[in-house]
Amino acid sequence: MTTTDVHVVINKGKSCAESAGVTASDSPGSTHSFNAGPRSSRITGFAQMEPSQRLDALVERGFMNDEQAAVFCSPAQVSSELADNFIENCVGSFSLPLGIATNFLIDGREALIPMAVEESSVVAAASHGAKLARTRGGFFTTPTKTIATSQIQFKVAPQDAASVPVWFERVRSELLERANNCHPRLLARGGGATGVELRVLPKPGMFVIHVHVDTREAMGANIVNTIAEDIGRWLPSSLPCTVGLKILTNLTIHRLTRVRCEVDPKALEMSGFSGAQAVERIVAAWEFADLDPYRAATHNKGIMNGVDPVVIATGNDWRAVEAGAHAFAAISGHYKPLTKWSVGDEGQLVGEIAIPVAIGTVGGVTRLHPAVQSSLALLGHPTADVLSGMIASVGLAQNLSALRALACEGIQRGHMALHEKNIEMMRRYDHIPSLTAVARGNGASRTE
Ligand code: MEV
Repeated sequence: MTTTDVHVVINKGKSCAESAGVTASDSPGSTHSFNAGPRSSRITGFAQMEPSQRLDALVERGFMNDEQAAVFCSPAQVSSELADNFIENCVGSFSLPLGIATNFLIDGREALIPMAVEESSVVAAASHGAKLARTRGGFFTTPTKTIATSQIQFKVAPQDAASVPVWFERVRSELLERANNCHPRLLARGGGATGVELRVLPKPGMFVIHVHVDTREAMGANIVNTIAEDIGRWLPSSLPCTVGLKILTNLTIHRLTRVRCEVDPKALEMSGFSGAQAVERIVAAWEFADLDPYRAATHNKGIMNGVDPVVIATGNDWRAVEAGAHAFAAISGHYKPLTKWSVGDEGQLVGEIAIPVAIGTVGGVTRLHPAVQSSLALLGHPTADVLSGMIASVGLAQNLSALRALACEGIQRGHMALHEKNIEMMRRYDHIPSLTAVARGNGASRTE
């Protein structure tokens, strides 16, 4: 397939660049030829291409088909009817830029990562971190369980509190059975309740039951909330108590995703620093976050710079993932970094991340949003556990890039170059009349 063929099919005769008013001769990368090489996520010159050429490159390398790629540059991905079904009081849709992070090698598989994000540097930093990790084989994930947890809070008279653990042991299997009866189809898909737990809260007579459920491909909020409410209704018939809240927890510790990578110190050499010095400085930068919650908050924000855009592009609930990540960071009683960096036996930099990633690949927006479907296609239609590993890998790559920049040269040099580009864009687009002004029939006024 030639580049021209791809343009014609993707955009039904019009490339994204043409749709945006840029002609082929304006385009800086217009002479770039894509050699349909092996399916690698290292795409030479990707950053210098026009958006439509980047899409062509993804199609030519077999990461997506023409129709899936066309969705990314379609101006109306979500119809007003669809949007109106997603939320209440809907008046339209809100767009975010979608970038593709390159260079990812995850468990030996090449991966191009869709990232929906407005912050400059983020996609470049993820790609850079992934390139560094490739020097020693990329990212290695530990298989993740897709477990979500219901909480059912209840209270007994303080004098009855001692008998509650005995009662719980008696009803343990009944609780599991009740949970599974709520979702017989989940059982058929190999999921279902995997365990129940009684937790004593630090107030006399106050308890909470946890029901752990393997939700398979679903993020599982609806599944575990239904179970929580069912058990909450049944509870007073088995134990004299007052039932409180019945809802999932976003602190999904049974969904912990662990990823590890290593970096060859040679790849970290830069003017003024040897590879070994860079390794040492990156580890020291991590140690700062380990010692100081003020630094840990920023360190973890940088990790979430990588995590959230993939969670968004795959149609998942980024507020849930954020809540889980920060609650997990504080689980020891002190707010800590979600990653750890150390020096390996051979002087290599070793990075590890442990983060709960409660996402799904089915349900709600995932199935309905065309760009989400294209993102999942680009990722090779991963299962939920594999997608969790990919998301955590991007978080680790992002953190590596940030620490390397901060520990060695500072981030402002790279940041300011991109920031300048944004300022220039603002200058260029400042003459565009605001939609409000156009709607009021006053197209001459400046952007509001
Ligand atoms: C900026 O969005 C993120 C960083 O502040 C992260 C960090 O400091 O580790 C660069």
